Amino acid sequence: MAKKLWGGRFSKKTNPLVEEFTKSIHYDYKLAECDIFGSLAHVYILEKCGYLTPAEKGKLEEGLDSIRQRLIEGKGKFSIHNKEEDIHTWIQNELYKEVGDLVLKLHTARSRNDQVVFATKLYCKYAIEDLCDGCISKLAIALNTLAKQNKEIIIPGFTHLQHAQPVRLRDYLYAYEEMLRRDYRRLQYIAQNIIITLGAGALAGTPIGVNEYRWGAEAFLKEVKNWKKEFNIEATVNSIDTVSDRDFVIEIISALSILAMHLSRLAEDLIIWATKEFDFIEIDDAYCTGSSLMPQKKNPDALELIRGYAGRLYGNLVSVLTMMKGLPLTYNRDMQLDKEPLFNSFEIVCSELRVLEGLIKTLKFNKKKIEEHLRDESLYATDLVYYLVDKKIPFKEAHTIIGKLIKYSLDNGIEIKNIPEDKLKVFSDKFVKKEIVTLFDPRVSVESKRSINRKARTALERARQE
Ligand code: ARG
Repeated sequence: MAKKLWGGRFSKKTNPLVEEFTKSIHYDYKLAECDIFGSLAHVYILEKCGYLTPAEKGKLEEGLDSIRQRLIEGKGKFSIHNKEEDIHTWIQNELYKEVGDLVLKLHTARSRNDQVVFATKLYCKYAIEDLCDGCISKLAIALNTLAKQNKEIIIPGFTHLQHAQPVRLRDYLYAYEEMLRRDYRRLQYIAQNIIITLGAGALAGTPIGVNEYRWGAEAFLKEVKNWKKEFNIEATVNSIDTVSDRDFVIEIISALSILAMHLSRLAEDLIIWATKEFDFIEIDDAYCTGSSLMPQKKNPDALELIRGYAGRLYGNLVSVLTMMKGLPLTYNRDMQLDKEPLFNSFEIVCSELRVLEGLIKTLKFNKKKIEEHLRDESLYATDLVYYLVDKKIPFKEAHTIIGKLIKYSLDNGIEIKNIPEDKLKVFSDKFVKKEIVTLFDPRVSVESKRSINRKARTALERARQE
């Protein structure tokens, strides 16, 4: 049998340079099991419409199962040096070793254009499930636990990276948990919208009827064992679109880019918090690296790479979007180039989530240092404005009064709480010194903020756990 899945109309051998240049086996081997799954479904369909006898179906099934078993045991080794151009060809050739010429019937009414979409869609469904229930949930839980363990801590909140108002540390950590919840739902939604189909052929459909596809796929999903299969296989509704479509790849890399952006922001916050200047946190030694020259250094390299890798994700997204733009319908070989960015994006975010989970679980807060930062009176300026507003001064006017008071305090190097009452009264006769001094308290400040619907959050958390 010919090594390639084509070749009949050629009188010359492919130039070895072209052979190597067009290969994808060194990365699309990741689709192996999903491609076998598609082949098994196809075998059931071929039997339903009489292209295969039940005995032939059984033989092909056995052959495909044993290839899968070998793959699971790690017996397939893939690199650019494999002689096959892609994983679909490799499986076909392996199957030849198992069932001989019977393999020639498997490609009836089938094209790699359809196979590759089937396998990639299935791969994406599995990969999303693993990422969501494995890595994303685990980091969300780690953040939630850290928040609960440190629920008493209040930190300075920032806008423009300048002291703004005190906030609860747990709300800060919950904010990242919220982002992860959105990422989770976004990916689930994309996965639900991926419809797995057969029957596109190369582009024009196949001679097999819609009902045969339906019955074959139903029988297959019911009978086949040892596969996760929480999805349907349907006959294509538009074969031209099926083989041309890579929207799902773009949607996934886009959702993963958003996730990577969130992780990059978390990494950046932690990098800043770990500086001598902030000193809010101590990152565990196991998550830092040193310097070859400066012995004192403990650097947050892992976090820096998480910040940096977001760029790689965006690059992957732009590369697939650009590759697809302007492609005439239907399949073009350019589309083979969707796989490396897709796989790479999954791999990066998965590693990032796992590293962050461990780092978060071992993170320590430096309460003393945080308390020092909280002594900065500017953090309470807004509370002073509300104080005057409560005394019926219009907000804008109160804002100006406090602005002037802060300027006076800075210009004269005197803290507001040390300004004598008669001097305070120059700014506003509503000021009562013994009331003012109680406001420079982080707890008073956070407790005065009543707009956060914590009950809804608790209810939501409970609902998510159920
Ligand atoms: N390895 C190819 C890919 O991933 C398979 C499809 C090849 N189809 C073709 N008509 N040459 O896109």
